[in-house]
Amino acid sequence: MIAGAHSIGIVGAGQMGREIALVFALADFPTWNVDPDPAALTSADLHVGALLGGTRYLDTDRARVHARLTYTERLADLSGATVVIEAIPEDEALKRKVLAEIATTTNPGALIASNTSSLPISLLAEALPAERRDWFIGMHFAAPVSRMKFLEIIPGEATANAAIEMATEFAAVLGKQPTFSKDVAGFASNRLLFALLTEAQRLVDEGVATVEDIDRTCRLALGHPVGPFELMDHVSNDLALSIHQILEQAYGDRFAPSKALRELIGHGALGRKAGRGWHNY
Ligand SMILES: NC(=O)c1ccc[n+]([C@@H]2O[C@H](COP(=O)([O-])OP(=O)(O)OC[C@H]3O[C@@H](n4cnc5c(N)ncnc54)[C@H](O)[C@@H]3O)[C@@H](O)[C@H]2O)c1
Repeated sequence: MIAGAHSIGIVGAGQMGREIALVFALADFPTWNVDPDPAALTSADLHVGALLGGTRYLDTDRARVHARLTYTERLADLSGATVVIEAIPEDEALKRKVLAEIATTTNPGALIASNTSSLPISLLAEALPAERRDWFIGMHFAAPVSRMKFLEIIPGEATANAAIEMATEFAAVLGKQPTFSKDVAGFASNRLLFALLTEAQRLVDEGVATVEDIDRTCRLALGHPVGPFELMDHVSNDLALSIHQILEQAYGDRFAPSKALRELIGHGALGRKAGRGWHNY
């Protein structure tokens, strides 16, 4: 079982990192959330404060998070971390750079995980020194992390069984239900999701149905909690495009993004965070 002695570093305080940090702090782990952008840290703190203010949480939860969660701009503050999860933008070059820095900052033996949506873990592992690759793994959470029980665990070629076991134990401790996927671009979850998102965009391109009607169809006929265009707006359209491009490179045209998606991004309609995307907010 996981001893209480772990300290956690979450690198990136954006949409995912801030809530990954929250669930670790709620589970009573001392947690540092690192981001070089002070505005991201302030926004993360406000977001977490607003979530904790809701009726889902008790005063004891608020006190625990207050005591356990620290925001910092300095990666060096993770020198004592035993588990570090990278949650920075879906950009291979940036992730490689930051993973190499994480390996230099932390002690050998620390578990390093990536929350990448689509980049193969074995590819990212190349950024780490060879002797650290057995403790590197994919831990793919779903948004919003504070609500979604999903945690996809993706071992890379070099990942040790002990690291897979530890990631699986963390899933249980965090109240998540693990699934396992082989290390292919997009893993299982985003190959499934982007098959739907690609087809939804094609239907609009072909004039078969409107954005609104496709969202409604998925909610009413398929029982999805949100439609594909609402989901893209939530995830953010720029991230959706990055994932499309990674999947298109790996699997070809079947995952190609639509012209409409590129145009939306060109006009700054990035989704909810921008106040407009496929829908207006
Ligand atoms: N948004 C989703 O629904 C979702 C779901 C699952 C997985 N993911 C994956 O999670 C990762 C993060 O996505 P997001 O939506 O949170 O992105 P985001 O853009 O909301 O946040 C990324 C954060 O990383 C920070 N950052 C940039 N460079 C950094 C560095 N060198 N060190 C530390 N922080 C740095 C940025 O300042 C930003 O705050 C991506 O790999 C994405 O594919 C996203």
